[in-house]
Amino acid sequence: MFSTTRMIGQENYFDPEIAQDYPPANDHSLSIVNFVKNAFSIRLFASGQGVDDLCRHFVLSDNMMGIHIEEFPVGTYERAHWHGPGTSLLFMEGSGHTLMWPRELGKTPFADGKEDKITRINWKWGSLIVPPLGWYHQHFNTGDVGARWVKLGTPPGNRIYHTTTGLWTSTSGGLIRFSEEDPKVREMFIEDLAKHGGHMEMPPMGELIAVEAEAEKHYDRSKVPSTQWPPMRLPTYTAE
Ligand SMILES: [Fe+2]
Repeated sequence: MFSTTRMIGQENYFDPEIAQDYPPANDHSLSIVNFVKNAFSIRLFASGQGVDDLCRHFVLSDNMMGIHIEEFPVGTYERAHWHGPGTSLLFMEGSGHTLMWPRELGKTPFADGKEDKITRINWKWGSLIVPPLGWYHQHFNTGDVGARWVKLGTPPGNRIYHTTTGLWTSTSGGLIRFSEEDPKVREMFIEDLAKHGGHMEMPPMGELIAVEAEAEKHYDRSKVPSTQWPPMRLPTYTAE
C-alpha cells in the first residue's frame, strides 16, 4: 500500500515549523510532526510519572508508532508501571538504573520476599532498555544531570492509531502509586544516591501521597469526557 500523505514530496515536508502542538490538557502533550529538529533540547511538558518530570509525545511522519521524549530530574525516581510489549527506551542523557519485575510478583516484591526475581539494569546515555510484556519497570536517576530518553514503541503514545498494544491498562491499572509502593524502593534509592554522592530530591512520602490523591481526581480519563481530550486529527499538507 502506498501512502499518499507520508511522502508526498512536498517542499516543506520536513519543516519543524509546521508541527501541530497540543500541550497537555487532561493527559500528555501531543505533537504531530514530520521532523524533530533537536531531541536533546526540544521543549518538554509536565509528565506526571514522578516529581517534576517532563515529556512530549509525538505522532511522527503520519506513522503508527508511539513515540515520546521524557526527562526526569536528578535525585528522583518515577513510579513503576507496566504495559504492553514493544517499547524501547534509548537513553540520551544521564545515568541511573531501572528495576523490572513481572507483574505477577505484585506491587511489593521486596516486602513479599521476591527480591531475587527483580532485575536491575544500570544505564547511561546510549543504553537501550526494552521492558518485557507486562513487566513493571521503575526508573531511578542517580546521576548529576536530568535523565532523558526517547521511547520508540507502539501506542498509547500514538493516540491516532491503536494497535495490538491495547494491553496497556488504564492510568491507574498499570501503575504502582506512591501510596502502594514497597518501602524498600525508597530506602534503596537513598542508599544508591549516597554511593554516587547524591541525595534524595523527592518530597516526603506523605506529601507525595497527598499530591497523588489530589491529582488522580483530575487525571482519571474515565472521568473526563472524550470531547475534552486534545484534538485527534491528522495534518493536511495540501495547498489550499
Ligand atoms: Fe513504560
